Amino acid sequence: MTGSDSKAGADRQDVMAEIAGLVARVSAADHAYHSEDAPVISDADYDALKRRLQQLEELHPDLARPDSPTRRVGAAPSEGFGKVTHAQRMMSLANGFSREDVTDFIARIRSFLNLGADQPLALTAEPKIDGLSLSLRYENGILVQAATRGDGVVGENVTANAMTIADIPQRLQGAPEILEVRGEVYMSHADFAALNASGEGKIFANPRNAAAGSLRQIDPAVTARRPLRYFAYGWGALSEPLADTQFDAVARLAALGFQTNPLMRRCQDAEGLIVTWTEIEKQRASLGYDIDGVVYKVDDLSYQARLGFRATTPRWALAHKFPAETAWTRLERIEIQVGRTGALSPVARLAPVTVGGVVVSNATLHNEDYIAGRDSSGAPIREGRDIREGDWVQIYRAGDVIPKIADVDLSRRADDAVPFAFPTHCPECGAEAIREPGDSVRRCTGGLTCPAQAVEKLKHFVSRAAFDIDGLGAKQIEMFFADPALPIREPAHIFTLAARDDAGLARLKNREGFGERSVEKLFAAIEERRRIPLARLIFALGIRHVGEVASATLARHYGSWSALAGALDRAAPAAERHVRAEEAVAHERAEAAAQGRRARLKETRDRVWSEAPDPGDEARAAWADLVGIDGIGEVLAGSLVTAFAQEAERAGIDRLLEQITPLDVEAAPEARTEISGKTLVFTGTLERMTRAEAKSRAEAMGAKVAGSVSARTDLLIAGPGAGSKASKAAELGVTVIDEDEWLRIAGAG
Ligand code: IVH
Repeated sequence: MTGSDSKAGADRQDVMAEIAGLVARVSAADHAYHSEDAPVISDADYDALKRRLQQLEELHPDLARPDSPTRRVGAAPSEGFGKVTHAQRMMSLANGFSREDVTDFIARIRSFLNLGADQPLALTAEPKIDGLSLSLRYENGILVQAATRGDGVVGENVTANAMTIADIPQRLQGAPEILEVRGEVYMSHADFAALNASGEGKIFANPRNAAAGSLRQIDPAVTARRPLRYFAYGWGALSEPLADTQFDAVARLAALGFQTNPLMRRCQDAEGLIVTWTEIEKQRASLGYDIDGVVYKVDDLSYQARLGFRATTPRWALAHKFPAETAWTRLERIEIQVGRTGALSPVARLAPVTVGGVVVSNATLHNEDYIAGRDSSGAPIREGRDIREGDWVQIYRAGDVIPKIADVDLSRRADDAVPFAFPTHCPECGAEAIREPGDSVRRCTGGLTCPAQAVEKLKHFVSRAAFDIDGLGAKQIEMFFADPALPIREPAHIFTLAARDDAGLARLKNREGFGERSVEKLFAAIEERRRIPLARLIFALGIRHVGEVASATLARHYGSWSALAGALDRAAPAAERHVRAEEAVAHERAEAAAQGRRARLKETRDRVWSEAPDPGDEARAAWADLVGIDGIGEVLAGSLVTAFAQEAERAGIDRLLEQITPLDVEAAPEARTEISGKTLVFTGTLERMTRAEAKSRAEAMGAKVAGSVSARTDLLIAGPGAGSKASKAAELGVTVIDEDEWLRIAGAG
């Protein structure tokens, strides 16, 4: 190579680097401008950067990058970061806090897999890093995407930022064609202290916040200056397995160039895990980075595959948390917040105190019994010590959860302190707040006329798992709720907002935080949500007991809004009888407890049933179908049907439905299996798979598993010893198969 060749090579390198830098800066400025409404550079600087980029691309067309912002036509990404749907869901972990939780975890796994006492079950133990999870996708050894966890299904695309982290290799040698590496981004204690001391940007409360804030920077150049690190501990989508065991798979990640945690161990039983946990805890203070527990994972990956997942957590892993950190402070006052279902929740306002690196000034007090020092059955908690305004209280935080009060110091209580009088009326609307028998909370009876309930319902409606409207969060809801010119008082108003008169819109545009562009963006985001997946809509309605998982289950079962609403309407008379009976039963239980006599539950229920009008066959069938759905209990079903039957609430729902189009649920074609949508019943003994495993397997394949045979059963899997269920199935003409056939269907034969 001649001197001038090598000089040309070096020049080329420089040009490539400059182009990469410009692409990152222009893209970041685009994001900041279009999505964040927070321009990071002046228009003149932006134009100069873009011109320079164009110039270099014209001079070196072969170096122009496919992702260059100069190639985007009017590109205005709708959000701060693009969204990424994870090829494989990013799960969270079940938590354990005690030795017993660990032995239970192992016992559950052994029973699920039907392991004999002599069959080994190895598990790995490794620190649980207190940072934020990041999924890295490599295709043919090249890092093509980095995404945060988000809600587990959809995360944020932070590729440009992740590329600036030294621990994250951009190229891998000898990796599978498709490899998604999962791990934790974190910041060391020393780097965290230096960052806060440097005066650059804001002060972070703890290393985890600093890591999250640094990774989620619009300008990757800022992330590049932050000392972020990465530990790899798992994987998502793979074109071929990394190894046969968790331990070896992590070793393979290390061989590929990732940082993996040096404290990871392989253990043979609960005792081994607890020894490792104790050793790791001893080192906790000297590790130089935050950990909040030890994660245990089943080592054998074929066992992991059989164990599978619950709704959001794997059955094969457990986070064994370290004990929560605590601190003492003064409880200044107790305030009552009114939630979306009318629950009056007491909140402790505290003199600020640092607990586990975070400044805490609020803590939950749960309900009036908790304040009074007793649990829902009347048994004493904190040995019966109540909590009063002015008391010294001990605060604890465990992981992410809202701080709680562990104890109260009676020796420091003022002589004139009085027991807290829990309000009997809603502090927001004045309506009576009543406590139903059997309910641990007092609820405002104001319904949607209570402004606090209405505003909380709206906040829930726009929340991330519900309508998730960009630019319309809790803060904006509060602002619009109170606004006389553009009021949003119920969900339907969000969609009629754009159609308001010009004078109102003009006012909106002039408001602080709302420029012309952000109003347009908000309207576009609202328009985008007029078509909404059915499950999100159900969840968004904010009906008591109807959470995200139940909403998805209901959406899958009914498939369309009209089928759901029709079924709920039909079920109403039967639900009413049921709800009335259960109310009477709860009342009887409370009365009996107060009078110290035996509760006559069955008699009470029977009496209400005989007194109530017969709901009719159609209602009975619709109700039976609803409560027959796996995962939909009677309490949830009652709450759902009642909400739909309640006049004012239903009118609001109908007004909303005039504005939007719920999308029907279609079973994803690739997910269709021989048994998707079918109802299965297992009976008799299965010899090669436990019931729990068979049920989990069937559900993962899109089937429903019921406990008894009925006309709705599609398939009965009968092992030896099958009794009445098999004869009932024969009577009803239900197909009956044996375990071998089941194993073939389940792909395990
Ligand atoms: S495994 C499917 N291992 O903890 C299992 N997670 O509470 C996925 N975390 O979202 C997680 N250290 O961000 C795993 N050694 C470790 C971890 C770890 C930290 C985080 C991770 C996850 C969260 C769950």
